[in-house]
Amino acid sequence: MSGETRALKRPVLAGNWKMHQSPDETRRFFDAFLPMAEAADTGSILIFPPAVSLATAVQATRDRRDVLIGVQNVYWEPEGAFTGEISAPLAAAAGARLALVGHSERRHVFGETDPDTARKVQACLAAGLTPVLCVGETLDEREAGSAATVVKRQLSAVLDTLSSADARRLLIAYEPVWAIGTGRTASPSDASEMHLEIRSFLVESTGRETADAIPILYGGSVKPENAAELLSAPDVNGVLVGGASLQPDSFAAICAAG
Ligand code: PGA
Repeated sequence: MSGETRALKRPVLAGNWKMHQSPDETRRFFDAFLPMAEAADTGSILIFPPAVSLATAVQATRDRRDVLIGVQNVYWEPEGAFTGEISAPLAAAAGARLALVGHSERRHVFGETDPDTARKVQACLAAGLTPVLCVGETLDEREAGSAATVVKRQLSAVLDTLSSADARRLLIAYEPVWAIGTGRTASPSDASEMHLEIRSFLVESTGRETADAIPILYGGSVKPENAAELLSAPDVNGVLVGGASLQPDSFAAICAAG
């Protein structure tokens, strides 16, 4: 899907359902959401359900090329004795087209490291899944003035392991940890400032052409009320939405803001 997404001029509208939505709830969500969301370009709407609802989500959206389904995490080995884990090839075989990698909850609740994220991105690319690499600083890091340094460290851990052809297949989500699930949103100018930093860092690491092809999404308390403003900020190419993606009407309102 990466090539398809790259051709997009429209923003990428992504919903991360975290540990919510059973298969039945997933079916009900799409029954209500799909008629409300105007069909758009391929891959402009991305939904990341919990793995148990992946098959239901894939099935429910099979007639909508604009809606693609992803997983919230993968393990980097392709198969083996790793109880409780899902590999990138297994996710792809079940219909996932993308995977979140390095979400702040993976990093801060489950101890995922920068080298782990690099391995996971490699595993996704090898399996044909588009990785959505999530980066972002904590409140302490922001207050210490090290937000950009932290984000660049998280990015270079992955970019240093990729060719520029592979880097072109990434999406990046900037999600300041202090704005996730807290109701505290970065202002459009805060978001834009970091997105510009990320874009220039991408130019340094991968060259202008690749850097310009990588969508940078903003995430952290995105809601129908603030989506349009965030989406119109310079260098914000989409949003990754948690809480407000769980209700069909609020996620449809965010999609309409795109
Ligand atoms: P939130 O979550 O929109 O509920 O803040 C965003 C995310 O964690 O991706």
